Amino acid sequence: MLNSNDNKAMCQVGPGEPMGRLLRRHWLPFMVAADLPAGGDPKDVPLVGENFVAWRDAEGRPALFEDGCLHRGASLLLARSEGDGLRCIYHGWKFATDGTVLDTPNVADAAYRGRLRGRTSPVRESGGILWTYLGAAGQEPDFPRWPWMDLPESQRVVAIHVQECNFVQIIEGLVDSSHLGFLHTDTLRKTGGSDLEYAQKVNSMQDDLAPKIEAEDTPFGFYYAALRDIRSKEGNSRREARVAGFVAPFTILNANGDLHQIVIPQTDTRSIFFHVYYSESRPLNEEPLRSQQLRIVGMDDDTLQRFHLTPETLGRGDYPQRTNYFHQDRAAMRDGRTWSGVSSLTMEDAIVCVSAGAVRDRSRETLSTADVAITRLYRALLSAVESQEVARIDWVQSRGFAAQLAPGQEWRDLLP
Ligand code: FES
Ligand SMILES: [Fe+2]
Repeated sequence: MLNSNDNKAMCQVGPGEPMGRLLRRHWLPFMVAADLPAGGDPKDVPLVGENFVAWRDAEGRPALFEDGCLHRGASLLLARSEGDGLRCIYHGWKFATDGTVLDTPNVADAAYRGRLRGRTSPVRESGGILWTYLGAAGQEPDFPRWPWMDLPESQRVVAIHVQECNFVQIIEGLVDSSHLGFLHTDTLRKTGGSDLEYAQKVNSMQDDLAPKIEAEDTPFGFYYAALRDIRSKEGNSRREARVAGFVAPFTILNANGDLHQIVIPQTDTRSIFFHVYYSESRPLNEEPLRSQQLRIVGMDDDTLQRFHLTPETLGRGDYPQRTNYFHQDRAAMRDGRTWSGVSSLTMEDAIVCVSAGAVRDRSRETLSTADVAITRLYRALLSAVESQEVARIDWVQSRGFAAQLAPGQEWRDLLP
């Protein structure tokens, strides 16, 4: 449970807010690199409560412009894409990706432009993702070095979805093992016969619906374990530990060991969720593996568009919301064809998050022993907000994992 002041400190992301300042001390992923083609159109990038415009010049150099033209504030989303620069349609000022002002055609003095600088933020491209740093110049933290950044593109699937709620309540669902056996019943049922690695890793979660949850603080946040006692058909019992890491303030090292999830606030009430699946050996990003992986979690393009979870479709048309009862199929729920009433795992997570309110009121919740990691999450985020420190982490060694525990063995002994 959190009082409203702590809840605000944890959730509000604008430039003047404590969490907003902390986020601006980090490298923030803001879009999938392939979604910004060279010489293409400018793209809208809401990020931590401000508006930006992403664009890539004809040479392939990416840029993130603070929105509002340097001259008199027209949106650069309207600007012309002209190869070496983005030209505002209002009076023709033109900006290169590094902020150099290339032209101010409504000013007779040709030297004038040399005294100006467009407002851009540093951008780096890594792991198939574009990242930016919005904090004070010269105080950039180390750039992330996650293992998937060094893999060939064929061994990494990067996918995003967006949803209309605060980022913390999305992260809550990612450190909450006990919801899987309920909310995602339909997906877990489908994993039985599947030879997809993902399916095999999550299959046993339906066999113990009340896992014991334990957590352990680390310099970067915490690890937490969901401990399940699984009984085989022969009556033997084994203890399984699924251990996930939370790296403050927005990264989850999933217990599957080959999935990182990064949730970035675009505004207080809208978030972008990066899913990065990777493999040290398999061409995950090639067909049919890529489609199989995305389909089983409802992250394929068709499903995301159908449920309005893409940047182009969010909030448009018949977006699942309270007024349309979130498009649950009640008939299918009654006759047992589905548990949740929606047919995608990602959509299941999205509707429970969104249904709790754009910024969930945590003064009215009732936490239990199932929510040990939720409490840890609040604590980790509030202490990061308080210290304003960037977490220290070993990018390569730190990981989520699942393991079978020998009798008397402690999951903590297996931590990296
Ligand atoms: S507002 Fe952009 S050129 Fe005038
Ligand atoms: Fe979930």
